[in-house]
Amino acid sequence: MKFPALLLFGAGIILIGFASASDYKNYDGFKILEVKYAEPRVRRYVQEIEQHLGFMPDFLGENWKLQQAHYFIEKDSVARVSRQLTANNITHRMRDLNQNIFKVRKRRDLENSQVTIQDVNYRYLNYNEQMQFINTVAQQFPNTVKLQKLGNSYEGRSITAVRIGDDGTNKPIVWIDAGIHAREWISYNVALYLIYTIASEPAYRDLLSSVQLVVVPNTNPDGYEYSRTHDRMWRKTRSRFTNSRCGGADANRNYPFYWGTKGVSHSQCSEIYCGTRAQSEPEVLALTNAIQREETRIKGYIALHSYGQEILYPWGHTMRQYPSDVQDLIQVGQAMAAAVKAINNTEYSVVNSGDGLYPAAGASDDWAKSRGIKFSYTIELSPIDDETGFTLPEDRINQVNREAFQAIQVLMIEVKSRFGIPKVTSSASASANSLILLKRLRTTMSRGLGRG
Ligand code: ARG
Ligand code: ZN
Repeated sequence: MKFPALLLFGAGIILIGFASASDYKNYDGFKILEVKYAEPRVRRYVQEIEQHLGFMPDFLGENWKLQQAHYFIEKDSVARVSRQLTANNITHRMRDLNQNIFKVRKRRDLENSQVTIQDVNYRYLNYNEQMQFINTVAQQFPNTVKLQKLGNSYEGRSITAVRIGDDGTNKPIVWIDAGIHAREWISYNVALYLIYTIASEPAYRDLLSSVQLVVVPNTNPDGYEYSRTHDRMWRKTRSRFTNSRCGGADANRNYPFYWGTKGVSHSQCSEIYCGTRAQSEPEVLALTNAIQREETRIKGYIALHSYGQEILYPWGHTMRQYPSDVQDLIQVGQAMAAAVKAINNTEYSVVNSGDGLYPAAGASDDWAKSRGIKFSYTIELSPIDDETGFTLPEDRINQVNREAFQAIQVLMIEVKSRFGIPKVTSSASASANSLILLKRLRTTMSRGLGRG
């Protein structure tokens, strides 16, 4: 009698430690569609894939080195999609999902452990752990780091900005936000690593004296928690709509610039549902309001996403349209890519976001650019391949953190040199003062002389 009870108890312990695959939405039979688009004919087909298939498949990412596009195909559509592609003479592969992506470590007990930079480098954290980490950093560096609440998510979680080097002056700002797409987990770690590194290392004090950094490490906390506990592939927000079986909108289609035009869906079950109207999502409203309050000072903006190893520049709402200063954006984008490559030879490609495989309107990068933020980008972080996709193995987090940090640092340096208020060193200001004194002296002297 006692024996089975003990066994049950034992199993219970294991379940507390790890989320088993069975906690998650079941994706048995789903496939990753891989299409090699090197041929121009196939590339055009891929760009028009929605018309060809009669629906827009869930785009996961692309491997630009192998020129492959990756889509997530529902179980019931696999056979039909495959047939359609074959009929159109499109070579493709239907790959199985790597089951490792469903083995997620469950949250640990917050009361018993402090989240440290080690955790940020070696594992994915839940929302509470992320918040605990930024609180600790703010307490550790009270003069450098300040937290600012931007608003609440649909389910009432705080959207928090971390302001680093905010000394009340009018320094230019670089704004970074992460994880508007819930399943793109690596973006949160990159943002937290950035916060900690810039705030803690004395080497960056000089940079921070002329540029301020604002980082929003989790722009979609509801979606993220849902992707950790219920559905690994969840991308959208968690808003509910009356009379609909599907909830959530793609927050990166919800920004008020060419809202609802291209590369979006108006049907609520789509992964790229753009919402009932622009800024319908409270997360987007909070972010746009916060940015607009200080938009004249924000000179750099990066939205962190995954995956694909790409640095994307506007415009992305349509094809073959570029801002007038596009050469500057390309140049700085390439400098960012070069800085990443120098670390470990990881290659990021600098491309226009609309000219790739699909334009998408209502995204944050376009909106930021439209508000006059000069250097506005979306970065698709590692990996480049679809083997693990959004679940980059935890032992690779640290490297991606360090690489992305280099890219962001390049942008900060560029903003400093273009927009930074020249720092007046004590000796320089002393000589400036003495020059003014000398001038005054001369004026009085000449006046005096004249009068005399
Ligand atoms: N993967 C991102 C998305 O689908 C890319 C956004 C790029 N920006 C753009 N304006 N299209 O949301
Ligand atoms: Zn994304």
